[in-house]
Amino acid sequence: MSRQKTTAAAKPRVLRPPMRGWLGRGRGESFMVQAADEWRGTTVQVCGLWPFSVGAGAPMTGAPIGRHLFTGATVCCDPISWFQRAQLISNPSAFVLGRPGLGKSTLTRRMATGLAGYGVMPLVLGDLKPDYVELIQALGGQVITLGRGRGYLNVLDPGEAAAAAQRLTGTARAQVLADAHGRRHQMVSALITITRKAPPTDREETILDRALEVLDERHDGVPVLGDLLQVIRDAPPEVRTVALDRGSPERYGQITEDLEASLIGLVGGGRLGETFSHPTTNPMRRDRPVVYDVSAIDEGDHDLQAAALLACWSAGFGTVNVANALADAGLEPRRHYFVILDELWRALRAGKGMVDRVDALTRLNRTRGVGMAMVSHTMSDLLALPSEEDRMKARGFVERAGMVICGGLPPAEMPQLNSAVPFSRAEQDLMVSWSDPPAWDAARGREAEPPGRGRFLLKVGGRPGIPVRVELTQAELAINDTNKLWHSQSRIGEATGVEATS
Ligand SMILES: Nc1ncnc2c1ncn2[C@@H]1O[C@H](COP(=O)(O)OP(=O)(O)OP(=O)(O)O)[C@@H](O)[C@H]1O
Ligand SMILES: [Mg+2]
Repeated sequence: MSRQKTTAAAKPRVLRPPMRGWLGRGRGESFMVQAADEWRGTTVQVCGLWPFSVGAGAPMTGAPIGRHLFTGATVCCDPISWFQRAQLISNPSAFVLGRPGLGKSTLTRRMATGLAGYGVMPLVLGDLKPDYVELIQALGGQVITLGRGRGYLNVLDPGEAAAAAQRLTGTARAQVLADAHGRRHQMVSALITITRKAPPTDREETILDRALEVLDERHDGVPVLGDLLQVIRDAPPEVRTVALDRGSPERYGQITEDLEASLIGLVGGGRLGETFSHPTTNPMRRDRPVVYDVSAIDEGDHDLQAAALLACWSAGFGTVNVANALADAGLEPRRHYFVILDELWRALRAGKGMVDRVDALTRLNRTRGVGMAMVSHTMSDLLALPSEEDRMKARGFVERAGMVICGGLPPAEMPQLNSAVPFSRAEQDLMVSWSDPPAWDAARGREAEPPGRGRFLLKVGGRPGIPVRVELTQAELAINDTNKLWHSQSRIGEATGVEATS
């Protein structure tokens, strides 16, 4: 008993405040539990703070894009790194959607810049604005200009395939040559389809195929469309056999008349001009970033625009194929490419066959070792195509994309978008709020920045989206301004006092 007393005396009772401080008036009771302050640091800096440090919620693999809109965490994202290194997506492609002027091309440029840093070559196969020329120039890449009187792209030029085939042997060589032959045939058929508004007949396709083979045997150097026309006019026995002229030159003339007329149109500067029938002015390289600048083509010139885009895609993927064949054979290092199809809605609308081409590209990107970014305004643009078949295929581009990146979008867009990729109510509200018009800044007498500029939701399948704000660096601001023409006008306005008086 006495022992118990002495222990109690040695350990006086310590009063501890409960969770919310001393309860009662004036005693410091806290009604609200405040959240602890959060800081960000590198693993090296915060490793000693165990167990108080947690990993970042946003992936840190890929090109740095900007900050998480709510947590401020750095967000890194690009389709190739997320596919190859982080294994977050099932194929290396991204579909970017958003209202005009909110920064889709800027985001794509940022990804291209980051990927160029990782050694991936950006390929802009048809820049309609131009949005990418300055970036590719800044990266030391190649700018290929196409347009009436500005530059030519010979559709019969096998590009680097011929030189590569000489370095290869066996099946690899045969494959490269067969691919180049197939591409040239497809391009001639595509050009005929665009001029005629109808595809060539089966017989004409076979005649073209055989005529190209004869051309390769007879012609030294790089042939042009005029040489192909001459082969068909010369009526070599191989071509006559497939034309089924039954030994009659008159019959041969009748059978090939339409084809000859179409080719004369292409060679003689018909509706498509001479862009595709002269020797290539600037052959594409495979070891540099490349942009095909087709911005000089008039917006209303749908046929030439479609033909130029198809020709760029064909030449671009031909080059990728050659690079892959050489890398497979161990003759060159393996190169990865980031193909950018910006303003996709314009390309798809440009004519028949465009949807099929993009469809084929989107299905093969993974096996060809290329990442892709497709950029368009809204799903409605894709669903406004004239044929039902094309609409279904265009929808598939969004459904199949490894990730979908959405900027500000109108509320009417949500049901269509939701049917392709599931978005939560909160995510939809966020995207709609980004599509609000900019407020009027009375102090500066002009509109403030649009609320959705540079804001995007990165979405992979059904996972919660990552809202991010793209932050541009000083170096980028100079080359990223697609509103340049408007600034110079407002400066004139300021200089002449138009703004001050209005
Ligand atoms: N994150 C950003 N911070 C500051 N300015 C930006 C940002 N993103 C875009 N801009 C500016 O907004 C303008 C439009 O950007 P951009 O051309 O990328 O838009 P877009 O969505 O591709 O438009 P469009 O649909 O017409 O092609 C440019 O002047 C660009 O510099
Ligand atoms: Mg754009």
